[in-house]
Amino acid sequence: MPKTGTTARPPSPSAKKSTSKPVTPAAAPAKNSAKPAAPAAAPSGSALEIKDTRTSKAYTVPVADGAIRAVELKKIKTGDPNDTGLMSYDPAFLNTASCRSAITYIDGDKGILRYRGYPIEQLAENATFLEVAWLLRHGELPTQQQYDQFVHDITFHTYVHENFRKFLEGFRYDAHPMAMLNSSIAGLASFYPSARNIFDETERNISIIRLLAKTPTIAAFSYRHVKGLPFVYPDNRLSYVENFLSMVARMSESKYEANPVFARALEILFILHADHEQNCSTNAVRAVGSSHVDPFSAVSAGVAALFGPLHGGANEQVLRMINEISSVKNVPKFIESVKSGEGGRLMGFGHRVYKSYDPRAKIVKKLADEVFKVVGVDKDLEIALELERIALSDDYFTSRKLYPNVDFYTGLIYRSMAFPTDFFTVLFAIGRMPGWLAQWEEMLLDKEQKIARPRQIYIGQAERPYRSKLSS
Ligand code: CMC
Repeated sequence: MPKTGTTARPPSPSAKKSTSKPVTPAAAPAKNSAKPAAPAAAPSGSALEIKDTRTSKAYTVPVADGAIRAVELKKIKTGDPNDTGLMSYDPAFLNTASCRSAITYIDGDKGILRYRGYPIEQLAENATFLEVAWLLRHGELPTQQQYDQFVHDITFHTYVHENFRKFLEGFRYDAHPMAMLNSSIAGLASFYPSARNIFDETERNISIIRLLAKTPTIAAFSYRHVKGLPFVYPDNRLSYVENFLSMVARMSESKYEANPVFARALEILFILHADHEQNCSTNAVRAVGSSHVDPFSAVSAGVAALFGPLHGGANEQVLRMINEISSVKNVPKFIESVKSGEGGRLMGFGHRVYKSYDPRAKIVKKLADEVFKVVGVDKDLEIALELERIALSDDYFTSRKLYPNVDFYTGLIYRSMAFPTDFFTVLFAIGRMPGWLAQWEEMLLDKEQKIARPRQIYIGQAERPYRSKLSS
């Protein structure tokens, strides 16, 4: 149980000293005084004045970058010897910054997303995925020379060890490709034991190259395994995206030629997914990586988190939901079932951060138009459009600021390219890989970071003696 002592003792001079600059307990008021405590001298810059009504003490906590340091709250104590200091309680990190990051900027109210300062719209329009991957990690766009070397390095490492064939063949014919991807990426750690030297820059570099290079190969192999098709080895004459499509779709052609509209659409989707600051999977990568495990293990935690239907798994769920709705005429009934809580959530709608619109969804919708010009409009797109139309004019959704997110239309594009539904989240994972890696490295090199270890409020049993309930 949380300890809530009641005695208010003014801080001793030594305690005052230990607070050094940050939290400054103000002079305690006279006993029974109704007057608020006089505020302590504020440190330079902005500060938060906190009055602890349990003790009547006042504190001054510095504010920097729109945040207070939660650890400063620890210094606010009741005087009870069991009180370890005030905590902040924030399940699901609704209002807690876990790091300082220079990689991705989001303004959820204005619908802004930027990688290293560059608007997502401009990157999606003009950049290549590997250019964005370089940008995310290094903070600047690559020069031609840097880019050529990077593309060469990635291309050089696309092959996986032959044992991977056996590894993947061990999965059942109907294994979910995200389960295969997750365990395969973790399995890479066993092939590259020196990757554990995470503070060696050369090792970090090669691990990052390997993960970017081999993820599409593993993803494509898992696709071929499920289909019962022979694995297609990487073709290093092709671009990153074309090579991936070749490993997925090539049959007996001597040289695979991807449909250019599909190849560019996939490249744009990878760019849109490349990073999204402290989302669930990135937080998982950072948290697991904070134990100083190798990057393959850390990133596999990201793949696992992405698998979930509330995160990257939503693109798969959108298609399943549309299939269940099955006809435009059933859309109003379905919307009513969502509103009543009986029909589950409208998948592909809503976002923790975006409260006006998801800028990625805008780009994806435009992209869908281009892809559907090639493959033709089908009834699923019509259902999606009707869902969007009704939801955007319904008070249930507008009052909760629920708008289409990136996953609402991506599934339709993937399906029109003939990817199976349970492969959609794998495509998201290929795109997110550079972001996970950039965030992992930023976390490692951040001197302020330590092993991630949240606190808890214990609500369980008090101490009790062991008495077995087993029959003797
Ligand atoms: N359909 C119907 N109602 C919803 C939805 C939805 N998709 N999303 C949120 N709500 C309601 C929710 O029931 C709650 O209502 P009330 O206040 O009456 O209890 C309110 O909106 C707030 O919801 P929340 O669960 O507190 O919001 P959150 O910020 O914790 O959840 C979310 C964000 C993305 C998990 C959620 O919107 C959701 O489940 N969406 C569907 C799944 C989805 O599309 N996920 C992909 C997210 S984008 C890709 C990515 O980055 O992973």
